[in-house]
Amino acid sequence: MNDVQVLQKIKAYKAISPLAVHGGQKIRTKKFPPYLLIDQEVEDAVSKVLRSGVLSRYLGSWHQDFYGGPQVRAFEEAWAAHFGVKHAIAVNSATSGLYAAVGAAGIEPGDEIIVTPFSMSASAVAPLVYNAIPVFADIEKDYFCLDVASIEQRITSRTKAIIIVDLFGLPYDTQAVNELARKHKLLVIEDCAQAPGAFYKNKSAGTLGDMGVYSLNYHKHIHTGEGGVVVTDNDELAERLRLIRNHAEAVIDAKGDAHFTNMIGFNYRLTEMQAAIGLVLVKHLNPLVEARVENVHYLEKRLTSIPALTMPKIRKDCTHAYYLHAIKFDECVAGVSRNAFVNAVKAELEVTEWRETEGVKVNAGYVKPLYLQSIYQKKQVYGTSSYPWSLQPKGTETSYAPGICPVTERMHNNELIVHELMRSGMTKQDLDDVFHAFEKVWENRKLL
Ligand SMILES: Cc1ncc(COP(=O)(O)O)c(C=O)c1O
Repeated sequence: MNDVQVLQKIKAYKAISPLAVHGGQKIRTKKFPPYLLIDQEVEDAVSKVLRSGVLSRYLGSWHQDFYGGPQVRAFEEAWAAHFGVKHAIAVNSATSGLYAAVGAAGIEPGDEIIVTPFSMSASAVAPLVYNAIPVFADIEKDYFCLDVASIEQRITSRTKAIIIVDLFGLPYDTQAVNELARKHKLLVIEDCAQAPGAFYKNKSAGTLGDMGVYSLNYHKHIHTGEGGVVVTDNDELAERLRLIRNHAEAVIDAKGDAHFTNMIGFNYRLTEMQAAIGLVLVKHLNPLVEARVENVHYLEKRLTSIPALTMPKIRKDCTHAYYLHAIKFDECVAGVSRNAFVNAVKAELEVTEWRETEGVKVNAGYVKPLYLQSIYQKKQVYGTSSYPWSLQPKGTETSYAPGICPVTERMHNNELIVHELMRSGMTKQDLDDVFHAFEKVWENRKLL
């Protein structure tokens, strides 16, 4: 067949195709329901704070208000109790929480921190805020968290910490990674932005490393608009985190912590209103996660009938919080590219209320491997200088070349489909529509 004949054949196929991507009828024409968290109790809690007139009560000096106002303190106490950890430090995002954790770890310029290439960008860029070098290890092909063997390969005499993400809601390989970290005297910073409510051996995700970081941004299981929490059982790390949150350099002289002098503080403070919302919502976390688990089970029972799809595995001794539902797609079995398949599924479905601008919440490949971002490719953070990479001795420079994390690249380029259409609030009818979209595209895949 020559090119013209091929094009004619495609046109003819499209003319008869029932697929929405070709102009056919969509499976779903109604928007999916919003992820609704704001109930009367939240409204009352916020109104109470508004009426009190105290929207924040922090002072960036050594004073009783250095630790924040009553809502922030009550929220921290409730968070620590819920997750079974000694200290919870409320911050204004997980990003600032990650930066504070790296700062509290006492990282020096030129130190190396092992990070994942498959996450939101802040999980990897945090070391650079302290002039440390992010070193990317590869992910596990079945669970998508950092792979312990790959971490081990990346350890050098300069490695000081690991930032490990409980990706999509599943805790990292806790025993293996923690043992490796202990052997090499590395701190483990657990980025638990996506996994509050998940467990490893009855221990809450977020409390599995030396410090854990949660997000309260509006995409997360529970949210306060923006916000975050850092947790730790270590008293000294906790105090450093509190100092970094609130202008350390202006506080330590009066506070009298001589060994805490080498710190710059920021304003990472959560407001009283956000804390009041968090205080209510932390009570709802478990049922919200349970609803996701139930929805995933319902959907998976149906989706497993499609031979090209593999449902996410759950690591032994762990539970999953399903921030995202991550499905693997086999292009060889399907005979069609993952991207074409996902585009066709999206065309069958509708956007989610309140998040219309984000498009249909089904995504091919999650994020581009982070080391391919310009910041790493150019190795430039400060103006045109190559600091802190310039601190690395010749011959030991960290590589960000394409191909350094082949599993991540394969997941991104060909295999992974992630979607959010299993959150609480989705009815069985909504979930059926999601399945029928996948089923319809599967049955008509030869037309793609
Ligand atoms: C794994 C991970 N880490 C960190 C963050 C940053 O969270 P925040 O928006 O609260 O700064 C996110 C946000 O999506 C995330 O998914």
